[in-house]
Amino acid sequence: MKLAKWAQNAKPSFVREILKFTQMPDVISFAGGMPAPELFPVEEMTEVMMQAMKESGRYVMQYAPTEGDPMLRQVLAQRLVADHNPATADDILLVNGSQHALDLIAKAFIDPGDVVLVETPTYLGALQAFRPYYPNIIAVPTDAEGMVPEHLEALLAQHQPKFVYVMPTFHNPRGTTMGLERRKQIVALCKAADVPVIEDDPYGELRYRGERLPHLRELWDQAIYLGTFSKIMCPGIRLGWIVAPPSILNAVKLGIQATALNISPLTQRIAALLMKRPTFDQHLDKLRKFYGERMHVMLDCLKTFPEGTTWSEADGGLFIWVTLPAGVLAMDLVPRALERKVAFVPGEPFYAAEGGESCMRLNFSNSTPDQIREGMGRLREAIATLMPVKK
Ligand SMILES: Cc1ncc(COP(=O)(O)O)c(C=O)c1O
Repeated sequence: MKLAKWAQNAKPSFVREILKFTQMPDVISFAGGMPAPELFPVEEMTEVMMQAMKESGRYVMQYAPTEGDPMLRQVLAQRLVADHNPATADDILLVNGSQHALDLIAKAFIDPGDVVLVETPTYLGALQAFRPYYPNIIAVPTDAEGMVPEHLEALLAQHQPKFVYVMPTFHNPRGTTMGLERRKQIVALCKAADVPVIEDDPYGELRYRGERLPHLRELWDQAIYLGTFSKIMCPGIRLGWIVAPPSILNAVKLGIQATALNISPLTQRIAALLMKRPTFDQHLDKLRKFYGERMHVMLDCLKTFPEGTTWSEADGGLFIWVTLPAGVLAMDLVPRALERKVAFVPGEPFYAAEGGESCMRLNFSNSTPDQIREGMGRLREAIATLMPVKK
């Protein structure tokens, strides 16, 4: 037996491995990107599940159109338009979460050896999704706002990539946001080179301070947009969506047909009914309130970390990206932190090539303020054990 090359070389995701530890009692986890389970809309979800079965049981139990539930596409289109993200129901295709979207996009675009451009660092799940298609993944040098335009321009000209993948709002892992000017520059460069740009936006609704910024599709109608219900409803629903021009949607649709025929009409109907409720916006407000508080608690704790520690000032999302004091490596910190029953993800897996050795990603959504204070205390202690001794 011989598996395909990607399967022979694939390593389990580092985050998934660390998540195993987080199941142990007393462990405080800043590791995954997990929403707070106590904020899941369990009761409302139960009600709409019953409603979906009662009102349309025979529809949701049948095979369904590959492009998705017409009701959900309609509700989503209205929401996107209200968010200045131009889309009609026909521009939207439903998928099993953004991770599925990343695989489908890769499947639609990448032939072995094709270049794709990503930020550095980038979402490690995107690297995992792209790699089985044998792309040449090139990391575009990135500053506090994302891809540096001069570098992007040069790499676009040099490689004619298949697509450019970015997270302009509340980046994973860095938590940072691309400003308006930078968005315009990135879009203008991709447009001039006629290269699709993909905006992966799981966190856009989770803004705790500052002003909203336009989606890339608002600046260029050929941009591809990826959305998900994971962080605003619950990840267990495994539901997300792609907004893209018709030719791209068609290729993606064929990809879904080949692997899954269609995604679950039941979960789609549940999501549509939940979003149609006026209480859905109140639910989002509640998430913003709770997560915003948690983010501020974590930022305050960081001020007490050893000298030389720096971090990103996120305005939303679920993460803070921390650079450790000189000489302290995040990989060395992992076991010391786990001994003290606190988990985080070190920076390296987020880099397509190399980098991130002194960085760590901290998630604040999945711990209460008290747990954050306790866990940050333990982490500070673990870092202290690695600090070079002053002479
Ligand atoms: C940037 C980014 N893209 C995609 C995903 C995958 O999300 P989903 O649960 O919708 O598959 C995540 C999950 O954390 C993410 O952070």
